[in-house]
Amino acid sequence: MKKIAIFGSGSGSNAENIYKYFLNSKTINIACIYTNNKNAGIVKRAKQHNIRVNYISKKDLTCFNQLYSSLKQHNIDYIILAGFLLKIPAKMISKYNNKIINIHPSLLPKYGGKGMYGEKVHRSVLDNKEKESGITIHFVNQNYDEGEVILQKKCHVSKTDSIDSLEKKIRSLEFEYFPKVIEKILLK
Ligand code: GAR
Repeated sequence: MKKIAIFGSGSGSNAENIYKYFLNSKTINIACIYTNNKNAGIVKRAKQHNIRVNYISKKDLTCFNQLYSSLKQHNIDYIILAGFLLKIPAKMISKYNNKIINIHPSLLPKYGGKGMYGEKVHRSVLDNKEKESGITIHFVNQNYDEGEVILQKKCHVSKTDSIDSLEKKIRSLEFEYFPKVIEKILLK
C-alpha cells in the first residue's frame, strides 16, 4: 500500500476529489492532510471524511525536521500539493525527489511563479485574451511551478468566459486527470 499526504491551503476540492477516488483502493491510501491554514476549507472537508489533519507553520516547513519525522511516522511515500501556497524547501525536495507532485491551473510556464494562485491565474489569462488555458501536473523542484511536466490538458477560453466559468472548466480537468495521474505515477 502506497501512502499519500496531501498538502493544501485552500478550499480543498481537489483533496476531496482525490480522497474519494482512492477511497476503496487496495493500493493507494490518503494517510493525512497537511495545511498551513487552520481556517481553510480543506480542514472542514477533511473533518467531514475523518481524514487526519496536521497543521504546519511556514517555519515548520522551512526547518523541515519535525515535519520529516511526522511524514516518516505516517510512512508517507508521495506528497501531493493540491492548492498549497508555501514554497517547498530544498531539504524536503531532496528527501522526496520526484515524489512531490503539484497541480497548477494554467499551461505552465505561462501564468506560473510566486503569487500565481487560483483565481489570480484565471484573471491574468482573461486579461491577456488567451484563447486557451488548462492544467499542468508536474514534479516539484526548488522553483515555483518549474519542475518536470507530467501532464498538461487544455481547454478553450471563449470571449464570454468569466473568472468563474473559466475556473469551472479548469476544475473539471483537475478532477478528471489529477487522481488518474497520481495513480499512474504511484503504481508504475
Ligand atoms: C486549484 O485550482 C489548484 O490548481 C490551484 O489552487 C486551486 C486549489 O483549489 N493551485 C495553484 O494555483 C498552485 N500554484 P482547491 O483547494 O479547491 O483544490
